[in-house]
Amino acid sequence: MKHPVNLFSEWMDDAVREQIHEPAEMVLATTSKDGKPSARMILLKEYNEDGFVFYTNYNSRKGEEIMLNPQVALLLYWPEIERQIRIEGRAERISGELSDEYFSTRPVGSQVSAIISPQSQVIPGMDYLEKLKRHYIEHNPGENKRPQNWGGYRVLPEVIEFWQAGPNRLHHRLRYTRDEKAWKTELLAP
Ligand SMILES: Cc1cc2nc3c(=O)[nH]c(=O)nc-3n(C[C@H](O)[C@H](O)[C@H](O)COP(=O)(O)O)c2cc1C
Repeated sequence: MKHPVNLFSEWMDDAVREQIHEPAEMVLATTSKDGKPSARMILLKEYNEDGFVFYTNYNSRKGEEIMLNPQVALLLYWPEIERQIRIEGRAERISGELSDEYFSTRPVGSQVSAIISPQSQVIPGMDYLEKLKRHYIEHNPGENKRPQNWGGYRVLPEVIEFWQAGPNRLHHRLRYTRDEKAWKTELLAP
């Protein structure tokens, strides 16, 4: 049996080959402490057998929710090739070193925005952000340091479902479930 991350990788390669617009865009769903779900788009930056990595502000709404309940869901959908991938698992912060590494590769403008933006907080207006940005730039010439509240999460997958559209809505659904160290596969009715 193929490891689900190998199948994920094949599907991602297909998406790139088919020139899907931004194939790494995905939905991240989290829940509040009283179980209310919320979802938003994010970018998949890296994946391997350990999991799926994205970057964000740890103090954002999603960051707060992950702290209370690390169980999250990811969803990728590529309409042009009629495929969807659903991932469920636990999110954990990656190391500061890995986040530093990625932060240093980002364009300077994006670094500054990540530093000054109190993501998910209510702000009085966009000029407030401009002011924060000007103030930061005036007082911090030179290299931008990753703020402690910004970094990566790795989602350690427990369930991954590969969905391929079929004729007459008889879609093909292959679900991988992690059981301790091994993965099992099952087909699901569409
Ligand atoms: C296509 C797309 C990609 C995005 N990628 C990211 C991302 O990688 N990280 C991030 O923090 N926000 C990203 N965003 C913004 C989020 O959707 C969201 O607005 C933000 O993270 C705040 O979410 P929260 O308040 O639920 O924490 C992206 C938005 C879009 C539309």
